[in-house]
Amino acid sequence: MSVVALVPAAGRGERLGASVPKALVEVRGEPLLIHAVRGLLDAGRVRHVVVAAPPALVDATAKLLADAGLPADVIAGGADRTASVGLALRHALDVIPDTRVVLVHDAARAFTPPAVIRAVIAAVEAGARAVIPVLPVADTVKQVDTGGVVLATPDRSALRIVQTPQGFDAATLVSAHALADSATDDAGLVERLGIPVATVLGHPHAMKITTPFDLAIAESVLAVVQQSERSPVEQSSDRKQGV
Ligand code: C5P
Repeated sequence: MSVVALVPAAGRGERLGASVPKALVEVRGEPLLIHAVRGLLDAGRVRHVVVAAPPALVDATAKLLADAGLPADVIAGGADRTASVGLALRHALDVIPDTRVVLVHDAARAFTPPAVIRAVIAAVEAGARAVIPVLPVADTVKQVDTGGVVLATPDRSALRIVQTPQGFDAATLVSAHALADSATDDAGLVERLGIPVATVLGHPHAMKITTPFDLAIAESVLAVVQQSERSPVEQSSDRKQGV
């Protein structure tokens, strides 16, 4: 089945306090977007990647990806995340009309392990119309009113933290976007259609990078991942050199 991946990266990412859009903030010398697209392609199943960039940065983003040797189409994003995904979806279906599985991934979750990406694709291929990677909630969660006073304590065993990529049967995602509604994630649109959304186990490395604190954690995560990918001989030489 043809799998395409959409990467909405057209936001400003002001919470990171950087002078560039969040997707272009660097971790260990490379922008988050490059890490995210490389992760999608490294999973070995994605045939085509479409990135939605801020309109003024389409050419610069395309050059960045090309220079990194990553094949991807870059289009101008829309007014909000949902609009950017909708535009990228339309482009993907124009380029690859026989697309069966669509992944929607956040550049801000640049370090989702390939195994999670493959698990999402496999669940869609097995028949789920929408699939999201999730993690259990470790903290107690409170619902509060506008004044910050606690209203309720939901049973955390029934709560999940949602990650990306989210996976969809292409026709389902097209129907969800035809609602012309806005949502913080695409599965939210599918829920409004009354279609069940399945879950697979996510991974702590698929954390969303939102604040400078998250960025510091991401630097450490990538250092550990890159170290574990080095051969035992290289690791031994690193140790001798005190790396
Ligand atoms: O602002 P927030 O972190 O929720 O944005 C989620 C994702 O949606 C980010 O990757 C951001 O770049 C993207 N986005 C987009 N188009 C917009 C606004 C946000 O692609 N107009």
